[in-house]
Amino acid sequence: MPSIEHLLWLPVCDARQVQEDPLSVVLMDQALVLWRDQNGTACGLYDQCPHRGARLSLGRICQGQLQCAYHGWMFEGQGHCTQVPALPHFKPGTSQRAKAVAVQERMGLVWVCLDAMHAEQAIWPAFAAEWNASMRKINAGPYDVATSAPRIVENFLDMSHFSFVHDGWLGQAGHSEIPDIELTQSDTGFKITNAQVWQPNTSALSKEGGMVAYTYEVNHPYSAVLTKVPDAQSGVPPGYEESIVLLIQPLTADACRVWFRMAVADFDADVEDVLAFQDKIFSQDKPVLESQTPRLLPLGAGMESNVASDKSSVAYRRFLQKLAVTFGVC
Ligand code: FES
Ligand SMILES: [Fe+2]
Repeated sequence: MPSIEHLLWLPVCDARQVQEDPLSVVLMDQALVLWRDQNGTACGLYDQCPHRGARLSLGRICQGQLQCAYHGWMFEGQGHCTQVPALPHFKPGTSQRAKAVAVQERMGLVWVCLDAMHAEQAIWPAFAAEWNASMRKINAGPYDVATSAPRIVENFLDMSHFSFVHDGWLGQAGHSEIPDIELTQSDTGFKITNAQVWQPNTSALSKEGGMVAYTYEVNHPYSAVLTKVPDAQSGVPPGYEESIVLLIQPLTADACRVWFRMAVADFDADVEDVLAFQDKIFSQDKPVLESQTPRLLPLGAGMESNVASDKSSVAYRRFLQKLAVTFGVC
């Protein structure tokens, strides 16, 4: 049975970065090469030639196939070798095959599942707002962060840091108390509802402070979805809400690249303002995230101290344990 980390869809780059030249990317310590075939479909292989181990990303694309730079073997997008130039009459077989990953494009990003054979079963972040046409979609990031993916997810779920790390933005000194939240388990993860917080800046569009209702959903070990409904008194347009999905490319166990895919119920706001707000918030989180030791998220009992307002963190740690996640935890 493949490990859970191999059964995840994870982002590896902006879709616009994959062109006709080989692009090297890293996912969970694995070097990969991506390119577009003749149909414009993104495809990817482990970045190691089956012949003598040269990096395939040093090669070039000829008629949609990747040609290794060392002896010119040709590979199509699923890894089949189609030609060995030193033996023009030889029909390459499975022992000449390069190892492929499964590749898809979604949400403006290119996604990889490391186990191409079992990609059908792999977990996608559940982002229901993605399919809602009345919501405008905006990608923020990428942001590079020197910590593990689980530390970043846990920070995304944590509301009790708002009045300290985001003082004057998502929280304010004197508004530190976090009322009890509701936690619901599901077959695929968990959900947090009824989380209320007072925010001086409820969103990029707000004009005044106000109460905001938060909902969180977790169904993927390295992703989480947040939905915010600010009180209308904060000056946001009537019916305004926003959903943000946290998307992480774990480069190594303790270094990541992060994107946020936002769905906002507003088509008028200047995209630069929405992005500037997100950049500001993340620039406040990053130094704290990078200061946390160990960088890997501790799952063992008693390794860190939990109190009642850490309900979402505790639920997330249990979720990782249940899935038997080993990458990014200790
Ligand atoms: S190492 Fe790639 S063709 Fe020889
Ligand atoms: Fe934060």
